Amino acid sequence: MNKSNIILVGPPGAGKGTQAILLRDKMDLNYISTGDLFRFNLNNSTALGKKAQQYMSTGELVPDSITINMLAEELNSLGIDKGFILDGFPRTLPQAESLDAFMEDLSIELDTVLFFDVPNDELVLRLSSRYTCRECQAPNMLNSSKTSEVPTCSQCNGELYQREDDTPSAIERRLEVYDQETKPIINFYETKGILHTIDSLGKVEEVFSKVMEVV
Ligand code: AP5
Repeated sequence: MNKSNIILVGPPGAGKGTQAILLRDKMDLNYISTGDLFRFNLNNSTALGKKAQQYMSTGELVPDSITINMLAEELNSLGIDKGFILDGFPRTLPQAESLDAFMEDLSIELDTVLFFDVPNDELVLRLSSRYTCRECQAPNMLNSSKTSEVPTCSQCNGELYQREDDTPSAIERRLEVYDQETKPIINFYETKGILHTIDSLGKVEEVFSKVMEVV
């Protein structure tokens, strides 16, 4: 399979992380999730993590200047030979424009932007029942009535926790921020002719089949 540069966009809880991991494994691409990078820094109490936490915990975006630098460093360290999947970046127009400039400098192009479309009521349901693995970061859907069973990750048996931004008030704010800050990039990529909308209701495998039809 040819190397590709792919971006996954969509509202919080749309399934970007779930699909990105499947796509990474299928296509052997580098995978960068800015949310995971921030959480890694947060868990390791780095200066970057401490700075990011004040925004993430309430559902706000981390400022562009911080996020763009972090992404550029990560892309530089992974290299571009393999192709990449970006999950959660860009999330604002300035981020999208800086990615364009960065890629132009490297003489590489974006191949595909996958937009995961899910109605808000389903997003709220998914986020409020999501538990994340401390070991492999995989999202797990749990019925809260069963959480007393000390559940473990379905992928690696690791310990699960509920993200600080998966509380009702943070979820509400994340959805607002998505509408205000991130939705404009849909049009940005549509104009470039590389946006593909994936109706992302339905089982994970069904959504992944739609993804594979596009890429
Ligand atoms: P980030 O970690 O990127 O969070 P997000 O975009 O809000 O997305 P989520 O991880 O919540 O959802 P997802 O779409 O990946 O869905 P998932 O696959 O997990 O960012 C967190 C924070 O970091 C931001 O709020 C911001 O503060 C900061 N940040 C990150 N990037 C930034 C940037 N570029 N600029 C500025 N700040 C940034 O699935 C969700 C749940 O649904 C799971 O439980 C899953 O099992 C389940 N699920 C998945 N697919 C299906 C399906 N088809 N059917 C049923 N359930 C499903």
